[in-house]
Amino acid sequence: MDRIKIVGGQRLNGTIPISGAKNATLPLMIASLLTEEPLVLENVPRLADVIQLQRILGNHGVDVTIEGKKPGADPNHGRTIQLSARTIVDTTAPYELVSKMRASFWVIAPLVARMGEAKVSMPGGCAIGTRPVDLLIMALEALGAEIEIEAGYVIARAKKGLRGGEIVFPKVTVGGTHTALMAAALARGTSVIENAAREPEIGDVADCLNKMGAKISGAGTARIVVEGVARLSGTRHAVLPDRIETGTYAMAVAMTGGDVLLQNTRPDLLQAALDVLEQAGATVTPTNEGIRIARNGSGLMPVDVTTAPFPGFPTDLQAQLMALMSRAKGTSRITETIFENRFMHVQELSRLGARIKLNGETATIEGVERLKGAQVMATDLRASVSLVIAGLAAEGETTVNRVYHLDRGFEKLEEKLAACGAAIERISD
Ligand code: EPZ
Repeated sequence: MDRIKIVGGQRLNGTIPISGAKNATLPLMIASLLTEEPLVLENVPRLADVIQLQRILGNHGVDVTIEGKKPGADPNHGRTIQLSARTIVDTTAPYELVSKMRASFWVIAPLVARMGEAKVSMPGGCAIGTRPVDLLIMALEALGAEIEIEAGYVIARAKKGLRGGEIVFPKVTVGGTHTALMAAALARGTSVIENAAREPEIGDVADCLNKMGAKISGAGTARIVVEGVARLSGTRHAVLPDRIETGTYAMAVAMTGGDVLLQNTRPDLLQAALDVLEQAGATVTPTNEGIRIARNGSGLMPVDVTTAPFPGFPTDLQAQLMALMSRAKGTSRITETIFENRFMHVQELSRLGARIKLNGETATIEGVERLKGAQVMATDLRASVSLVIAGLAAEGETTVNRVYHLDRGFEKLEEKLAACGAAIERISD
């Protein structure tokens, strides 16, 4: 199994190209099930999760082709994939496939909307919390689907098609909002989604669906209105930049010091996180090409942060911020409100010398002057990358085991950091 070895202490200087967003790519790929015509996605990141979803969609009958790379093309540029769901051959998503990636449960919405039935395995537990699907089911029921739960599978039926309805989410849910949007796009009549998630990835999916002929307004606000249409067509769509990858590298630079241009990204995608980085002592400068992030000389200031749905501080950057604050001059507090168990990194950061106390959903981080390299591993994607950030600043050698978690969500992580001067390499056994 691959490991990543880091020798800490190097400042980061240079340019890091930001990839397309994993959490937009996955629902966009799933949206291909809504139409018989090909959907072409550009700026798709090369990630293990994307390959896994290709397999899952393949099982339903989707043909996936990767558009040919031109000689001399920028190797950092995301690839283009074409997904063609001309014929759906199977409306069941089996346990073996869904259990590997939670987002694959979302196929339930386009399948029932287009085919009138879907049988999808419950995703089950996950390392960051219980993560139920009750609200996704509620959304489908509000649009007229009949739901049965049998032997670990959710069976959704709408033999005469879905019909528009009102969906009021009691809690903001990204997956619930994607589900509601995709189902409502092909329902008869108008649907209203209240307390919708406002994450930029929702807006990106809605833009793509509109290009496919859907009639969605209000995406990006808490109230989305969808006028159902009888059929959708194919289109071409470029995935928006990955705000979590952007924030992760911004925190890495704040950690090591230096000056890096994060290319092909936008500050409005992660303003709350950039504000926190400025409070912590980094300099953030939006440019035409992306975002420049720098920290010189002065140390890191502690912060008090609570995660929240967009536009709040994202839960997907919580672990990275904790790594950063482990070296602040003073005591920080980070409260996690989205996933109750998302603190798996605390113990591993402690192995590197961080001083963190957990009390319920709040972590208190007492900054230390030095972290020291060690062997570490993590059980989820963002926790793993927080260990990389800590390793970049730790004295001596840090080895991050179980790298496959990183490969699920960070494209060419070690190459991008090494290009800016980090002493980091992948070791394959
Ligand atoms: C998405 O997960 C992201 N995944 C997550 O990123 C991200 O952390 C999360 O949104 C929050 O921003 C993808 O986009 C593929 P939710 P999702 O439904 O949709 C509760 C990463 O590292 N809830 O918004 O599964 C749930 O337990 C991943 O890239 C219910 O109670 O998250 C949580 O407390 C990790 N019932 C809250 O809502 C439901 O039916 C928000 O979850 C659904 C959710």
